[in-house]
Amino acid sequence: MEIRRHPQAPGALALLAACALPVADLDVAHFADFFFSGDPAAPTGVVGLEFAGDVALLRSLAVAAAARGQGLGARLVAAAEAHARARRATAIYLLTDGAADWFAARGYRAIARGAAPPSIRATRQFAALCPASAVLMVKPLAG
Ligand SMILES: CC(C)(COP(=O)(O)OP(=O)(O)OC[C@H]1O[C@@H](n2cnc3c(N)ncnc32)[C@H](O)[C@@H]1OP(=O)(O)O)[C@@H](O)C(=O)NCCC(=O)NCCS
Repeated sequence: MEIRRHPQAPGALALLAACALPVADLDVAHFADFFFSGDPAAPTGVVGLEFAGDVALLRSLAVAAAARGQGLGARLVAAAEAHARARRATAIYLLTDGAADWFAARGYRAIARGAAPPSIRATRQFAALCPASAVLMVKPLAG
């Protein structure tokens, strides 16, 4: 299934809500840096990037239950990483509550929350929306 950029906001929000991921801070402008699979109005998978200084925050990775286990999550993250590299981000950070092992298998390393750069701490996801139990992870991007 093809991965494309910029899903329509209502369908992406519905998928995120179905996967119990935070949506309170997402407005229409955010979706320009989101990738999706399937119908742009009702995607089967989404992932987003927020650029913060010279790094990016990867967020909102969700694959519909019926489409899981086929590599879609991995392909969405690969598309987001390629986009972050093209925008010259030096690293990707993320917060996850239940998928730390999944991201570790894809090159992300858990670090202390206190090690987050100020630009990442300033995002609403970091500051307010993700529970304190969420694990902070980072993947450096090679040139
Ligand atoms: C995590 C998620 C995006 C994976 O999507 P996916 O399309 O199934 O991912 P892939 O097909 O690329 O990878 C599937 C593999 O990861 C494993 N896996 C799935 N969820 C996992 C998790 N939470 N932790 C560890 N491994 C997980 C599967 O068992 C499978 O393993 P296998 O290849 O050995 O069979 C999807 O399960 C999801 O949307 N979960 C709910 C939302 C969520 O937790 N998002 C992350 C928030 S930051």
